[in-house]
Amino acid sequence: MVVADINPESLDRFETETGIPGVQVNVSDFNDVERMRAEVEARFGMADVLVNNAGITRDGFMHKMDPASQWQAVIDVNLTGVFNMCRAFAPGMRERGFGRIINISSMNGQRGQFGQANYVAAKAGVLGFTRPIAQELAGKGVTANAVCPGFILTEMTASMSKEILESEVAKIPVGRIGSPDDIANTVSFLASEQAGFITGATLSVNGGQYMAA
Ligand SMILES: NC(=O)c1ccc[n+]([C@@H]2O[C@H](COP(=O)([O-])OP(=O)(O)OC[C@H]3O[C@@H](n4cnc5c(N)ncnc54)[C@H](O)[C@@H]3O)[C@@H](O)[C@H]2O)c1
Repeated sequence: MVVADINPESLDRFETETGIPGVQVNVSDFNDVERMRAEVEARFGMADVLVNNAGITRDGFMHKMDPASQWQAVIDVNLTGVFNMCRAFAPGMRERGFGRIINISSMNGQRGQFGQANYVAAKAGVLGFTRPIAQELAGKGVTANAVCPGFILTEMTASMSKEILESEVAKIPVGRIGSPDDIANTVSFLASEQAGFITGATLSVNGGQYMAA
């Protein structure tokens, strides 16, 4: 396993805590993604499983949203980043006749969210993007699926006030906030040999908060 992230301090901390090596990349920059792919293949070998998890939020009302620092920045990382990574890694998976692509979208990409027009557009885009690539890659042993986390306790959500956190948890039928392990277990299943007949799917992992048809 290799972790790729834009933030070298996070990579160092993660490697110290887990022993899992990291490589730096800006997923929104295709040339940098290609450089990272070559580095990963040279140092660790070919990638059979790709998990597209990098994401940012730049929330604000649409009518006040800055075109560059809010709209384009979120589209570049959360949607174009997923294309860049798939574009770089899918050819090797096709050649070897096996691969697993797991794109992390969001419950908000399914249902919409006040103040997140940029994020919702990008995450809904990830759901759309996952289906045609699943169709294109299926014949080569490569599956592509999307996971929609609900409300998960991570650095992205930890900065919210206690009141907002509590009011959000009250909306979750299972009665608790999700943990990163809830998402990791889903990703781990989708990455397994046993999940070979699942492709083009959207899996909701949200404690019942939003039940898509
Ligand atoms: N936390 C939640 O409740 C929640 C809910 C739904 C979906 N998600 C999605 O799950 C994923 C992980 O979220 P998280 O809560 O762990 O967020 P996080 O902010 O803790 O982690 C996101 C990581 O992405 C990295 N990153 C940002 N821009 C990057 C870039 N250009 N290139 C490479 N790496 C970059 C950051 O450095 C960070 O380590 C995101 O895609 C997020 O949208 C999270």
